[in-house]
Amino acid sequence: MRNAHVKGQVPMASAQTHPTPSNVAAIATSPSGLGAIRARRAFAFERRLGFRGGMTGMRKRHLLESRRDDGILPWQGRNSYRASISNGRCIRIGPNRATVVGSAQGSKVSLQKKSKRISVVDVRRRKGGEKLVCLTAYTAPVAELLDGQVDVILVGDSLGMVIYGLPTTVGVTVEMMIQHGRAVASATNQSLVAVDLPFGSYERSPEQAHETASRIMRETGCQAVKVEACEGVARSISFLARRGIPVIGHVGLRPQAANVDGGFKVKGRSQAERDVALAEATEADKAGAFAIVVEGVTPDIAQEITSRVSCPTIGIGASPNCDGQILVTEDMLGLFEWAPKFVRHYASMRSVIRDAVAAYSRDVRCGNFPKTEELYIFRGNEA
Ligand code: KIV
Repeated sequence: MRNAHVKGQVPMASAQTHPTPSNVAAIATSPSGLGAIRARRAFAFERRLGFRGGMTGMRKRHLLESRRDDGILPWQGRNSYRASISNGRCIRIGPNRATVVGSAQGSKVSLQKKSKRISVVDVRRRKGGEKLVCLTAYTAPVAELLDGQVDVILVGDSLGMVIYGLPTTVGVTVEMMIQHGRAVASATNQSLVAVDLPFGSYERSPEQAHETASRIMRETGCQAVKVEACEGVARSISFLARRGIPVIGHVGLRPQAANVDGGFKVKGRSQAERDVALAEATEADKAGAFAIVVEGVTPDIAQEITSRVSCPTIGIGASPNCDGQILVTEDMLGLFEWAPKFVRHYASMRSVIRDAVAAYSRDVRCGNFPKTEELYIFRGNEA
C-alpha cells in the first residue's frame, strides 16, 4: 500500500543504462557506486529484512525465502551485493530498496520499491479522504504481517487482556508497553506505530505524561502515543504535542475507566454521555491530537464528533461515520470464544489452532511425528 513506485529514481550509476537481455546480468552485478554505501546501511537493511542479533543461519535463510516473494534478496555485505533473475525480473539490492533494472524479456523497466513509514502528517491528511486502516499488534511476527497493509499499528493496552488474560487494562504497566512496543516497532518499517500510555502513567500532570511518553518513545522506537482523553488530559496532549510527541486521543468508551463505569459501557445513549464524549473529542482536537480513537458510541455521536474535529477519527464500535477503523487483531481473527458485537470475524483462528493441536497430538501419540525427513542426519567426516 505504501510502496508507491517512484519513477525515475535510480540509486546506482549502472542502473541508468537501459537493460537488455544480454547486459542485464552485468548491470545487476556491477559493483560501481558501492563505495559510498557503508556497512552500517547494510546492517540496517538486514534489520529491515527481519534479521535479528543471535539469529541462526537457518532462521535467516527461512526469512529470506519468505522475502523472495517480494523480490527482496539479501544484502551481502559491505563490498558486494547480490542480484538475481527472479520471476523474470532482475533485481538489485541496496539499503532499503530493491530496484528492478531489467526483465528477462528486455523491457525497459526501472521500478523502485522503497519503504517509507507513514507519518503523523500523512495520517492527518486523510481527514475526510481515504479511510484509515488500523489494527493492533503486540508481537513482532504479527506486526510484520500487518506492516504496510495497514496505516497504523497500535500497541494497545488491550494487550493486558489479550496477551496476559487480565480482566481489564488497569493492570498494564509501562514496562509491558515498552517490551511489546519495542517488538512491534523493530519488526516494522511502513505502518505508523503508536503505543498506549497505560493506566496511572499519565493522568496526574502534563509532566508525568511527558516523562512516560518520552520514555516509551525512546525505548520502543514508536512514532506516537495514545492516551484516553478524560477530563484534564487535554492539557497533557498539548504539552506533549508541543514537545515533539505526537498524540492520539481516545474518547467515548474508555477501557481504563471500566471500574468507574461499572464495565465496558457504550456511550452516547443519554444526553449527559453525549456531551462528555463530544467535549473530550473537541478538547483533544484543540490540544493538538493528530487523530482520535472513538470507541463504543452511537453512530450519530460518531458522526457529530467526526464533523466537529479537525483531525481524523478512528472508530471502534462506532459506526462507519469515522475517518478510519480499528479492531483488536486477535478479535477479528476469531481467537476468542466471545467478542463484542462490533467485531467482524475475518478468520477462525480458534478452530485453526484447535484442529492443528489435535492433529499434532494424534501424530505424536501414534509415532507419526517426527518422520525421517524431519530428522538431522549424521554426516560422518563431512564438513
Ligand atoms: O488498547 C487498545 O487496543 C485500543 C484499541 C482497541 C483502540 O485502545
